[in-house]
Order: sequence, then C-alpha cells, then structure tokens
Amino acid sequence: MPTINAQRIPPRIPVGLVGVTGYTGMELTRILAGHPGLELVRATSRSEAGRTLAELYPYLSGPGDLGRMGALTVTQPDPADLASACQLVFLAVPHKTAQEIAAKLIALGVKVVDLSADFRLRDKATYEHWYATPHTEPSLLAEAVYGLPELYRAQMATARLIANPGCYPTSSILGLAPALESGLIHTDDIVIDAKSGTSGAGRKAGVGTLFCEVSDTFRAYNLTKHRHTPEIEQEVSLLAGAAPGKGIALSFNTHLLPISRGILSTIYTRLSKPMSLKDVHAVYAERYKDEPLVRVLPLGALPETRWVRGTMFCDIGLCVDERLGRLIILSAIDNLCRGASGQAVLGANLMLGLPETQGLPTAPLMP
Ligand SMILES: NC(=O)c1ccc[n+]([C@@H]2O[C@H](COP(=O)([O-])OP(=O)(O)OC[C@H]3O[C@@H](n4cnc5c(N)ncnc54)[C@H](OP(=O)(O)O)[C@@H]3O)[C@@H](O)[C@H]2O)c1
Repeated sequence: MPTINAQRIPPRIPVGLVGVTGYTGMELTRILAGHPGLELVRATSRSEAGRTLAELYPYLSGPGDLGRMGALTVTQPDPADLASACQLVFLAVPHKTAQEIAAKLIALGVKVVDLSADFRLRDKATYEHWYATPHTEPSLLAEAVYGLPELYRAQMATARLIANPGCYPTSSILGLAPALESGLIHTDDIVIDAKSGTSGAGRKAGVGTLFCEVSDTFRAYNLTKHRHTPEIEQEVSLLAGAAPGKGIALSFNTHLLPISRGILSTIYTRLSKPMSLKDVHAVYAERYKDEPLVRVLPLGALPETRWVRGTMFCDIGLCVDERLGRLIILSAIDNLCRGASGQAVLGANLMLGLPETQGLPTAPLMP
C-alpha cells in the first residue's frame, strides 16, 4: 500500500489577518482555507476575540485543514503577537486604522498587504483631502506598491507593503488600461458608470444596507465625491503618460445593486480617431493575451457579474458606437475576491515567492 511521504510536502507559510469579522476578512478566510502555500495562524477581531473561527464560520470544521483552521482562536489585534508568528499580515480594516498597524508590523520585519485605502494614493495631500484625516506614515506612502498585477507585477514581488487596490478602481483601471496605453481615446471625456453589490459597503450595520432598503430597488450614491475617484485618476493618468499636474480628471458615478457581490462598470469614452470594434478588440486582446486573470470576451459578448462571482477574473466586453464615435467598455469583477481579498492573496503570493495564482478561485458558483 503506498504511503504519503510527509517530508515532500513543503511547510505552509504562516500568515495573519487583522479584521477577520468583516466581509473582506471573511473572504480572506474562505480563500486561505483552500490555499496550499499559506497557513492562517493569527486572526484578530476586537469584538470576537476569544472565540474560535469555527464558532464564527461553521464551515470551518471537519477533518484536515478546514477543522485545523476552525480551531484557531481569534485574538486581539496586537502587532507584537502577530510579528511573533507571521511572515505576512493582511490588514482588512478601515482606512486610518491600517496606517498605524502597518507601520508597527513593518518595523517588526513583517510584510503587509493592506486592503484599505491608506497607502493607495501617492500624494499625501490628496489622501488627506479625500479621506479627511491626516496621513501619519508618509515614508510608507512613498514605498507602498499599488497591488494591481497587470500593472505592477515586478514591483509587487519585492515589496514590503502592498496597497491592495479598491474594488471599483480594479474594474475601472483594467477596463481603461489598453485604450489609454494605446492612445485610442480622448482623455478629457471619460465617464465611469459603476454598480456594486452591497457587500462593498462592509459588514457594519447601517440603515442604508438593510435588506428592505436595498432589495427590489436600485439607486445611485456618492455622486461626484466617491473616494475611489482620486485612486482611479492617479492610475489612469500614469497609464496615459500624463505630465505631472496635468492628470486625467474623470466622472465616476456609483450605484448600489440589490445583489450581495459583484461590480459591473460601464465606461463611456470618445475614440480619438474612427476605429472598428474589431480593431479595438484586437488591441485589448493583445494587451491581455498573457494575463491569466483578465478575459477579453469574444466580439459582441458582454460581461455579467455572475460569471465572475467569487473568482479572480476580470471580464471585459467592448462596444463601438460608430455613429457617435464612442468606445464603451464593460468590466465585471467580484468586489470581494478580485476587488479585495483574492487580489490581496495574489499580492502575498508574489511577495512570498509563491506562484502568482496559487490558491485563487477561478470557477464561479452557479447559479
Ligand atoms: N467590502 C469590499 O468590497 C471592499 C473591497 C475593497 C476594499 N475594501 C476595504 O477593505 C477594508 C475592510 O473592508 P470590509 O468591507 O471587510 O469592512 P468591515 O466589514 O466593516 O470590517 C472591518 C473589520 O475591521 C475590524 N476593525 C475595525 N476597526 C478596527 C480597529 N480600530 N482595529 C482593528 N480592527 C478593526 C473589524 O473587527 P472588530 O471591530 O471586531 O475589530 C472588522 O473585522 C476597508 O478598508 C475597505 O475599504 C473593502
């Protein structure tokens, strides 16, 4: 009878998670439960410390790795304790909180993937304006790598701190990148019309996200002042090669869908010269031909949130309105997986020398 040689299975790398009770913490737990190279050894929450993960998430039970993970006791967020056990820590906490914890962990020699907005904006004053709070770690702001692999793969692999992109920015930037890099569109007339499921608002209680407020209705919110606006503008300006001080300003408009997960961004642009859909499609297909997690759909096909639900894929569909000279780009992602926790695990994989897509879900749960 063949025996399993335990010596041949490499030990998994110990990681920690601050904010295990939020939606992105919950999604990180789901992904880490099936990750062959990472082991969750610390999970923190101020409100649930002392309970086991299985008590919070009953699916974490049974034999093997699931049960082992479920037996982990939730602790208070203590940087020294996290550093004593983890090579890398995910921060799935609100902005402002992440700044303080990240600085302490990095000083203790731990790598950090921050899911909040604290290190995404390169300019301190822009952060302080949009988030209405001081940034107390400007040196880390300069060092952090924006964790979008299609743009910064090489820098992510050597980073100590990854600023995990926002959910709306992930879908918007991936949708716009080929058109901007190839100069297909005017940069002064971009309108992003984005819709998200309600998990994008986090798990904390609020009247606006109660079932009866969200179900069976559809509404816009935060028009002209959504905090993801400067993050998208920063990255698309770099993609377009805009001169300093002459960055792209765009219209970013957000809506709340009565679904739990998923983002669909419809991006209206104006072509800089007449082009057929076939030619635009060829530019997109070429740009993403070696990318494992972006799918440029066949000519005429349009993305849907259900085909990327719970996965790392960004699905892109294209439409050219020849009558108006417009290129309309549609980009669908799962806000919790590609737009947050899955992308954070991809960043951790790169930082820790593991295969980029290891442990990441690619098939949706259907229907
Ligand atoms: N939801 C999304 O789709 C999404 C997508 C991309 C990025 N993000 C970003 O990811 C971060 C987490 O989002 P979320 O939706 O998971 O939020 P959430 O559901 O509100 O959860 C926040 C988590 O942070 C913990 N926490 C709050 N204040 C803390 C503090 N001062 N110290 C330590 N832990 C604290 C909470 O647990 P305790 O209060 O028990 O400690 C909870 O586990 C946010 O910065 C958000 O902007 C979210």
